[in-house]
Amino acid sequence: MSVYFLTGCAGFIASNVAEMLLEAGHSVYGIDDRNNAYSVLLKDWRLKQLSRFENFHFQEVDITDRIALENFFQEALTRECLAHFDACIHLAARAGVRYSVENPWIYLDTNVTGTLNLLELCRHSGTQKFVAASSSSVYGNSSAEIFHEDQRTDFPCSPYAASKKAAEALIFSYHHLYGIDVSVLRFFTVYGPAGRPDMSILRFIHAIAEEKPITLYGDGTQERDFTYCRDIASGVLASLRPVGYETFNLGGDHTYSVNQLIEIVANILGKKPLIKQYPPHRADVARTHADISNAREKLGWKPCWDFRAGIAETIRWYLENRDWFSAEMKD
Ligand SMILES: NC(=O)c1ccc[n+]([C@@H]2O[C@H](COP(=O)([O-])OP(=O)(O)OC[C@H]3O[C@@H](n4cnc5c(N)ncnc54)[C@H](O)[C@@H]3O)[C@@H](O)[C@H]2O)c1
Repeated sequence: MSVYFLTGCAGFIASNVAEMLLEAGHSVYGIDDRNNAYSVLLKDWRLKQLSRFENFHFQEVDITDRIALENFFQEALTRECLAHFDACIHLAARAGVRYSVENPWIYLDTNVTGTLNLLELCRHSGTQKFVAASSSSVYGNSSAEIFHEDQRTDFPCSPYAASKKAAEALIFSYHHLYGIDVSVLRFFTVYGPAGRPDMSILRFIHAIAEEKPITLYGDGTQERDFTYCRDIASGVLASLRPVGYETFNLGGDHTYSVNQLIEIVANILGKKPLIKQYPPHRADVARTHADISNAREKLGWKPCWDFRAGIAETIRWYLENRDWFSAEMKD
């Protein structure tokens, strides 16, 4: 059984990854700063689900706080009588495109300096495997039919996307200098139970369930390659193997328009959506579509969840947790 250092474990994706690792019998040392970018109650709800595993060890740590980070990292290794972790899985970030336009500093500090702090700990401890979350947003407003890892990523449309691109470059330099084995994972619009309340799917579910108007930027023809959270978590686990240095798109392999998404949610809930339309946001891209052949070939990974089934699961979770969760949703 392996011992992993996991960042952002109160977050949506990392909590799914932690659960899958713990279910497989591994040990997880998780950190998160529990910031209030969105509902802290939701972050605590996720941590509570993980607390049932005795091999889960959590500490509230900010990855930009080098001293606190190093202390927890070293304490964890001492407790396990290890020199290094089997891997560092770095999923903590300031996420979300639109808010990065308002406060770009916190995105750069967290996503770039925070990443640097972790890379330094890996190199000094001899932790040889680094898995990092990047994003489809690095492709910018690409006109390509389908996004391939080799295409240019020089035109990010937001400080968030630029911070992810910067982190990718920094991670490569650590691979080059110190031989750290790296899997960079570019996630495509991840959704599912206990997902992010600032993202479209839970916002739409909440608005339609409550019979309130949906806030829609653009005309709804924008398309996304939506990916279910359990598929993403299995992709993260698959990427723990040695690969040298590789970048993998992890996407759902189908693109749906936002209008189609609204229709599916409304159908499952049996309600008519009310829509309040705003002009498109300049930080949003028109379309995303992942070419996932690299992950298929080198990781043996493929998404298994059908979009409608994933949305139904998300709605089921929302309805079960509606009493406390609705109060956490902003319109
Ligand atoms: N959800 C998506 O659709 C999506 C798409 C592309 C990429 N990503 C990337 O995947 C990763 C996980 O995203 P998510 O959707 O789970 O977001 P999330 O916000 O739910 O999770 C990120 C977690 O990191 C924590 N965090 C933020 N700053 C921190 C700091 N300074 N120190 C310690 N912890 C900190 C947050 O509190 C949060 O719990 C991020 O790197 C994100 O950029 C997500």
